[in-house]
Amino acid sequence: MSQDRPIGVFDSGVGGLTVLQALRDRLPDEDFLYLGDTARLPYGTKTAATVRRYALNAANHLSAGNIKLLVVACNTATSYALDALAEASPMPVVGVVLPGVRAALATGATRIGVIGTEGTIRSDAYQQALSTLDPSIEVAATPCPLFVPLAEEGWGDHPVTDQIARHYLKDLLDWGAETIILGCTHYPMLTASLQRVVGPKVRLVDSARAVADAVIVEHADLVDVAAGGRGSVHIQLTDASDRFLRIATSILGVEPEHLTVVDIDGVA
Ligand code: DGL
Repeated sequence: MSQDRPIGVFDSGVGGLTVLQALRDRLPDEDFLYLGDTARLPYGTKTAATVRRYALNAANHLSAGNIKLLVVACNTATSYALDALAEASPMPVVGVVLPGVRAALATGATRIGVIGTEGTIRSDAYQQALSTLDPSIEVAATPCPLFVPLAEEGWGDHPVTDQIARHYLKDLLDWGAETIILGCTHYPMLTASLQRVVGPKVRLVDSARAVADAVIVEHADLVDVAAGGRGSVHIQLTDASDRFLRIATSILGVEPEHLTVVDIDGVA
């Protein structure tokens, strides 16, 4: 039965685990197959063509795992490759940009800042989605390239992260951003530092929960919302990483039971 097949989730590294955890909270009976493309991290500094190639490669690999739905838990891959993935994949594909944009608009802010990788900001995906859904919104966007290594290092609540965040976010704060979209799935891991820097009045929007909502609403025929907690998580990495295991354990609240290293280079 198609309902019994796993949901595939992928990111370049640990960032997508924030989305996986939100999905598990809402869909505890579902099985998940998570791919972290750790061998090719970061995606955010690569060109559009390379990110598209990596994303198609990851999707084809997960598709061979008989997934029923693909969640692209990476903003860079969503920004550059969502259309290509939707066209090439036999299963439905859900990205992170639109759910994040809807969640930001729901805050009622009229000045919305977007932060993300260089690729995501350069792609203009958030800026376009925001102005399409609400042309009256003012948008400013800024890349924060050092945030991914800080998240991978586990420095989510750290004076060094505070200092770098003050530098990156200064212009957005001076401009008067009321809400800031964390347009990279790694960034929610830095929430403690980021919230300290932006202050209590600025809302930080993490799309993880909004993505889980989109999966449930848009694919109600495919997912089981029962709350039995029988679901499993299988994690695959393209490069072995102790750091991944440490961060995964802290995000998921348990050490991943099923973790394997896979070679996806040969996958078309
Ligand atoms: N987590 C990915 C994203 O949401 C980016 C990390 C990377 O640069 O690989 O864009």
